[in-house]
Amino acid sequence: MMDKTWKLMFFLSEFFRDMYTFVRHNGYSPFANRNKKLFYKILIETHTVEKGLSLKEPKPLFGKDKINGIIHMLNEYDRTYSALPLEMALGAFQGYLDLHSTLGLSDDFLFYLDAYVEHLKRDGTLGNGGTKRAAPWLGNGELDAKAFLQSRSSCRMFQPGKLDSCLLTSLVELAQSAPSQCNRQSSRVHVYQDRAVIAQMLELQGGSRGFAHSVDNLFVVTSEVTAWGGAGQRNQLYVDGALFSMGLLLACHANGLGACPLNLAILNAVEKKIRSVGGIEASERLIMMIAVGKPLESHFRAARSPRRQTAEILQLHGG
Ligand SMILES: Cc1cc2nc3c(=O)[nH]c(=O)nc-3n(C[C@H](O)[C@H](O)[C@H](O)COP(=O)(O)O)c2cc1C
Repeated sequence: MMDKTWKLMFFLSEFFRDMYTFVRHNGYSPFANRNKKLFYKILIETHTVEKGLSLKEPKPLFGKDKINGIIHMLNEYDRTYSALPLEMALGAFQGYLDLHSTLGLSDDFLFYLDAYVEHLKRDGTLGNGGTKRAAPWLGNGELDAKAFLQSRSSCRMFQPGKLDSCLLTSLVELAQSAPSQCNRQSSRVHVYQDRAVIAQMLELQGGSRGFAHSVDNLFVVTSEVTAWGGAGQRNQLYVDGALFSMGLLLACHANGLGACPLNLAILNAVEKKIRSVGGIEASERLIMMIAVGKPLESHFRAARSPRRQTAEILQLHGG
């Protein structure tokens, strides 16, 4: 009975600490960094304009209030943090103007927006948003992509050696093609290559016993709480973080590297210790670690990890 009571207390205390972290750092919190909050808010709001532009028949003069709100936020925003909000807004506003010019529409609001676009350009901002053409990738044959997805396996034996920083950067760049809610991109990647630091982190993680000693490159994927706001979004940072992590795993696979996702199913106290060892800010929640490196052999031995029958997990609700 005592044991069960303790377990319940543990749950309550962990949920309370989760709540504290979310309330303290989320995008509505007065304690969160103001410019960071603006960064995410502008990205999210600008994305809704992009979405409007990508519709089959966008409504003329849609989202005027939204655009005014974005301009107001841009005027408050300090671009030294990141130029992306300005670039994204410029691209979206330019797309908005192009749409209305194609429609042959004229309106005071469009003159005002045009003047703002010119102002952004004069400040040296480059457009990086709006709409684009996209197509499903079929490679040289549809099977390439399918075979690629089905050939990834967790690798737990690595050649010694640090991966080159250009390669690491390109892996993260590839992972950035992962989708994120409203394109807010809250995921962060920390890379560790110092053996002593990696050893401490993996000891705290606890799931790499037997191969921790062979890990010379370790990613820690995190998600920034400030990108999220409101009770409904309290768990979304894990969804975006997990999708990003999958992108990173596939990027490693695409580059001939071995990688193993490592769970961070940990208590708040352990998370705090990992953050402290890794120099990770309190406003970031840990999503997962990923051990990465060149596999020990080109055809490395991996756990089979058989999958369930698809019919066991698929429920077709068709008509
Ligand atoms: C979120 C997550 C956490 C994981 N944590 C660990 C871990 O701590 N240690 C480990 O050896 N493997 C870990 N794995 C790897 C799984 O065991 C592996 O993905 C699963 O068995 C499927 O095998 P595959 O990755 O080779 O397809 C983790 C995987 C995921 C998705």
